[in-house]
Amino acid sequence: MEIDVFTLFPQAFEWFRAQRHVANALSTGLRLECVNYRDHTPLNAGQVDDTPFGGGAGMVLRVDVVEAALRARYGRDPVELREDRRVVALTPSGRLLDEELVSELARAPALTLLSGRYEGFDERVLEHFASDRLSIGRYVLAGGELAAMVVCDAVIRKLPGALGHADSALEESFSEALEGAPEYPHYTRPAEYRGWRVPEVLLSGHHARVREWRLAQSRERAGKRRPLP
Ligand code: 6GU
Repeated sequence: MEIDVFTLFPQAFEWFRAQRHVANALSTGLRLECVNYRDHTPLNAGQVDDTPFGGGAGMVLRVDVVEAALRARYGRDPVELREDRRVVALTPSGRLLDEELVSELARAPALTLLSGRYEGFDERVLEHFASDRLSIGRYVLAGGELAAMVVCDAVIRKLPGALGHADSALEESFSEALEGAPEYPHYTRPAEYRGWRVPEVLLSGHHARVREWRLAQSRERAGKRRPLP
């Protein structure tokens, strides 16, 4: 998979690239690259944003700057690009990211993530260049960089080879294996600490009962409390 992140702060992604699961994925075929809008601005003195028409606080990322960066990267009109590549604009008013959307993005051969800063994008970027608008929650961040990293993190851990155990992404919170429910609780040694005992069933070595208990816990957390099949 290849992921391009368009940002004004490419250095923010250096820490992210060094994380174990990201580094693993990078060494097994993932490409994760940053494009700095500022390197491609057609304006003077590296200008990338401007004051909003109609007045108001903050600065808005310019549509011509975003187009120039996309054209420099892909050599084509971004209006057409979005027809065969997922160009995801990160904006607090976008579709809420959830595990289903993550899986969908993880199946794409290539992703482009557009981070905005300041007050966000000129609306024409969203309207004409983006195939998707995505938010990571109902709160406002100062910029899209952290949101882009959240998307990358969630997507990358779904890629083969990113996790130590192939199974660990299979049966986790919100996965199909758990019927979309949150994950069951985990325990490790010591079996008793300050009088807090690990559930007996987990120490029993009885795999079928362990499995039953975990599914029941997961369902309970989902508030479903449906009987086991
Ligand atoms: Cl994608 N961007 C910003 N700036 N804030 C957010 C967000 C994105 N998702 C939630 N809050």
